[in-house]
Amino acid sequence: MSAHDTTEPTRRDFLYIATGMAGVVGAGAFAWPFIDQMRPDASTLAVSSIEVDVSALTPGMSLTVKWRGKPVFIRNRTPKEIEDAKNVQLSQLKDPIARNANLPSDAQATDADRGAGKGKENWLVMIGVCTHLGCIPLGQQGDFGGWFCPCHGSQYDTAGRIRSGPAPENLPVPPLSFISDTVIKIG
Ligand code: FES
Repeated sequence: MSAHDTTEPTRRDFLYIATGMAGVVGAGAFAWPFIDQMRPDASTLAVSSIEVDVSALTPGMSLTVKWRGKPVFIRNRTPKEIEDAKNVQLSQLKDPIARNANLPSDAQATDADRGAGKGKENWLVMIGVCTHLGCIPLGQQGDFGGWFCPCHGSQYDTAGRIRSGPAPENLPVPPLSFISDTVIKIG
């Protein structure tokens, strides 16, 4: 190895320096949007509600959309799923409260009060975050044909009501309205 080789930055040193620079730039670029998010402005308010076209969802089909950073499950339930949910007595429920943002806070978790309103009972719209520790449950799985959370085994029925496992509450129904026959506004 010559003296020249030890005083000049080697190619490897150069790569380290370049990487270090990229790290600094990257940190700066990351910090800005994070700080910017703390300032609610028109663009933040604009995404506080979303409109979802559900015309492609035939009975038995689901869609997951993102609303305020959370997954929202939209399911067009089959007649059997609705029937199964209707046949459950309130006394069988772990959480008998509807948890439906569109109803009074003490509304009971009947199937009708979990669905998307009169004439729209086939539609079930819920925030898809397990009420135990926040995992995302899997659809149409588990003993009750609804949602199953693989994290610790919570099981929800076809109306998204908690039926077994450690989760304490039903999956919450967000504020929603149909702005046409096939478009749901969430938020
Ligand atoms: S997070 Fe769903 S069961 Fe624990």
